[in-house]
Amino acid sequence: MAMKILRVFFFGLLLLQFPLLHVVRCQSEIEADVEGSELGIVREDVQDFVGGNFKPAPGVETICFFPKNSAKVVPAGEKTQLLVGMENVGESPLNIIAIEARVHLPFDHRMLVQNLTAQVFDNASVPPSTQATFPYIFAVSKFLQPGTFDLVGTVVYEINQSPYQSTFYNGTIEVVEAGGFVSVESVFLVTLGISLLVLLGLWIHGQFKRISQKTKAAPKVEVGTGTTDASMDEWLQGTAYNQSSSKSKKK
Ligand SMILES: *[C@@H]1O[C@H](CO)[C@@H](O)[C@H](O)[C@H]1NC(C)=O
Ligand SMILES: *[C@@H]1O[C@H](CO)[C@@H](O)[C@H](O)[C@H]1NC(C)=O
Ligand SMILES: *[C@@H]1O[C@H](CO)[C@@H](O)[C@H](O)[C@H]1NC(C)=O
Repeated sequence: MAMKILRVFFFGLLLLQFPLLHVVRCQSEIEADVEGSELGIVREDVQDFVGGNFKPAPGVETICFFPKNSAKVVPAGEKTQLLVGMENVGESPLNIIAIEARVHLPFDHRMLVQNLTAQVFDNASVPPSTQATFPYIFAVSKFLQPGTFDLVGTVVYEINQSPYQSTFYNGTIEVVEAGGFVSVESVFLVTLGISLLVLLGLWIHGQFKRISQKTKAAPKVEVGTGTTDASMDEWLQGTAYNQSSSKSKKK
């Protein structure tokens, strides 16, 4: 019984430690949150560009700043702003369509942790030989474990009706727990840890009891008193029933 509970708890612990599951669970929540704050009419064909895979246009330079945040600290679940600077050194004006970003595991870029909400721009153009700065506000999942992650930010734009994209940032961010609060999750984990220890203690206790019962019961089995089980033997040891059964065997 204790073993079974233990297994369920370990499985629960495993699930909690698996960051991808958290992300999937909260993804829609965050998207709904941020989308409400976007202003303006959004082009209907924007979905064709976001998440696409285009080449960077020649003559477009990008730069990225984290204002007042050189350590690139990102509190989990809270909005963080970065600025994307675009310089158009080409001949034609460019239209910014969207800025999007993804969070990856730093040691393996194939592991996508979260697709961040794309910021769509309406009628944001950069004429030739000019620079412009665009804000990108994002929030990583509040269920993300604190630590270092890689952020890959992309800006999608259009020149002469052709789509392009440039990566403006591909580097680490430091995800920290939001606010000074102890998260519900860490309280839960501590509670879980304590109950695991208690369960382990109970289980070990139970194992010892079983072993000692077995060693006591062993000689009785050889006597061949078929109907009496180990626990009954223990209760009846030294009683009249026990004596009479050994007597009857001698006959
Ligand atoms: C993230 O976006 C990409 C492309 O838009 C998509 O293929 C992928 O399934 C998304 N992943 C998650 C976890 O939403
Ligand atoms: C786009 O911007 C230009 C100049 O900034 C303006 O003349 C034009 O009316 C704008 N178009 C829309 C659809 O907002
Ligand atoms: C970002 O950098 C990583 C490691 O340096 C690289 O594997 C990955 O392809 C880069 N991604 C982009 C979109 O440039």
